[in-house]
Amino acid sequence: MEPKRHTITAALPYANGPLHLGHMAGVYMPADIYARYLRSKMEDVLFVCGSDEHGAAITLRAKKEGVSPQEIVDNYHDLNKKTFKDLGISFDIYHRTSSDLHKETAAEYFRKFDEASFFTKKTTEQYYDEGQNVFLADRYITGTCPKCGHDAAYGDQCESCGSTLSPLDLINPISTLSGDTPVLKTTSHWYLPMNKHEEWLKEWIQNGNIDGVQHHDPTEWKKQVIGQCMSWIDGGLTERAMTRDLDWGVKVPVLGGDGKVLYVWFDAPIGYISATKQWAQDNGRNWEDYWKKTDTKLVHFLAKDNIVFHCIIFPIILKQSGDHILPNNVPANEFLNLEGDKFSTSRNWAVWAHEYLQDFENQQDILRYVLISIAPESKDSEFTWKDFQARNNNELADIFGNFVNRVLVLTNKYFDGAVPARGELTSFDQEVLHELKGAPERIGQAIEKYRFRDGLSEAMNLARLGNKYLAETEPWKLIKTDQDRVQTIINIAVQIAGNLSIVFNPFLPFTTNRLAELLAIQHEDQHWARGGDDNLIQAGHRIKQGNPPVLFPKITDEQVEQQLGRLGEKSTDSTFEPVKDQVVFGDFEKMDIRVGEIVEAEKVKKSDKLLKLTVNTGLDVRTVVSGIAEFYDPKEVIGKKVSVLMNLAPRKIRGVDSQGMILMAENENGELNFVSPSQEFQIGGSVR
Ligand code: 2FM
Ligand code: ZN
Repeated sequence: MEPKRHTITAALPYANGPLHLGHMAGVYMPADIYARYLRSKMEDVLFVCGSDEHGAAITLRAKKEGVSPQEIVDNYHDLNKKTFKDLGISFDIYHRTSSDLHKETAAEYFRKFDEASFFTKKTTEQYYDEGQNVFLADRYITGTCPKCGHDAAYGDQCESCGSTLSPLDLINPISTLSGDTPVLKTTSHWYLPMNKHEEWLKEWIQNGNIDGVQHHDPTEWKKQVIGQCMSWIDGGLTERAMTRDLDWGVKVPVLGGDGKVLYVWFDAPIGYISATKQWAQDNGRNWEDYWKKTDTKLVHFLAKDNIVFHCIIFPIILKQSGDHILPNNVPANEFLNLEGDKFSTSRNWAVWAHEYLQDFENQQDILRYVLISIAPESKDSEFTWKDFQARNNNELADIFGNFVNRVLVLTNKYFDGAVPARGELTSFDQEVLHELKGAPERIGQAIEKYRFRDGLSEAMNLARLGNKYLAETEPWKLIKTDQDRVQTIINIAVQIAGNLSIVFNPFLPFTTNRLAELLAIQHEDQHWARGGDDNLIQAGHRIKQGNPPVLFPKITDEQVEQQLGRLGEKSTDSTFEPVKDQVVFGDFEKMDIRVGEIVEAEKVKKSDKLLKLTVNTGLDVRTVVSGIAEFYDPKEVIGKKVSVLMNLAPRKIRGVDSQGMILMAENENGELNFVSPSQEFQIGGSVR
């Protein structure tokens, strides 16, 4: 059955940080291409997303920064919403889970489930931090791994041996919030008995079938998606708590729910539905059409860490709700890496999408092109700035940009901007037009099968064909001798250029809109149905006069270097570095810091930054190399009392053995200043 309408969701990002290229390549760009393609086919499309504004991570961050959780989510909701818009991600609505409508919606589903006894309620013992008055989420408890003895395993997993753990398994558990030993306290929660759903889930995921009714074609699902689900199911589904003890989130709306909120699994995905409700209200539509009608095709876009969530837990919620449809597909992606390493917020090993937009103004489509070309569709993939440069310069600029530029320039130059009529066709012309005809079908097929990389490369092949056509027919050599032939060539080239504005539209919307302007064609002529038409642009039609702009400026080596230099640098996001992960007093106590006096100082040879200092620490006289030469002259530091980290392992720096480190304060410009006792003080005194 051909679907009548499409509900497309993209995973709601947490509103506690900005978005990076990994998010874009893995989730939002593929989803956007899919949505734009279907819209261009004039299908009824609803594309929803929004901020996930709940969860313990947000409350913790707020606590660390001394602000309210609402302030954090307001800030990132606005930033992320704008970033998506500026990158051309065409959500019909970007909603938020802290909205009243969402809270009411999620609470309503919860209440219904509770009334229908779809939950089991259980009382268990969980770790509680008495000083902080909170139950501890799994990630906020560390301790010794019972399997391998690693002393910093988390309550849900040991990152050293990879074992899945529960907080109660840990030996010597510690609350990461306070460093104290948590106590066990009883608490009650609502559990979703996933085990009861094992049978139908298995049948649905493997065969697309429930009770003899075919819901989707399982061969269209990605192997790794089915694989991950089946390994979960085969491992045995258990009961999972759908609530948490926390005061930030959707309050549990039933008796006994005080101090408890819905867990992300019963909160975020319902965010898709509440977003739909808001959109329907704003646009005079019916939300139920998009979630309940069986001729609606529901597709969830997300990355692999959310597969189980959308293929097992949310489908249980949808099915139990009675009249809701299930996803037709969940084309989850793998992860994108960056310059040989994983994206990491804490190390600032990331390219932030909003920073890209500042650095590369009006060059959204370069990023869209590159990220789709390397999208991690079937395995992890990698973004590098060199590759970014190469793909822009050698593909977008040299093939697409070059072809379009030639077509526009030649049409203006030879025919005063009026598209010439074509005459008799050579067999090469016919071959080219034949290729052109088949292109939209090939590209569309790839998009419909979630093979966006293939779709884009097919689209690029059409630009390649155009380039090759002009290179081989060389109209500039014929213009004096064979005007008729040149007319035919330019007409055909114009048809290819027009078609590029159609087939590239889902991928490169900014460029194709500019191209449509340059060709002076109407929006209707960019509908997918017009694709392949070898008479898309009629003879006599006038294109825009004048020198066409450069569609894809070359990316220079300097730009690449500048971006590479930024990686791993501290974030430019705020004036000060964010507070680091909490430590316990014992961690601090391990450091032996004392007051010392600098007795000699000289520059380290061939270095502008380093001073070699001789420091009297009261216990000994030692050499410390310090990166302060830009701020202090060797002469002026002699006699200064400073703080010395005594027990830092010795290191050789520029050939000099450095024993310890001098503590420095750093301001927002990176200028350094000694951390010293404020009054005359005895050498050797410890700093604590
Ligand atoms: O994992 C996450 O990023 C969560 N914010 C949930 C995203 S999926 C959802 F929206 F259903
Ligand atoms: Zn372990």
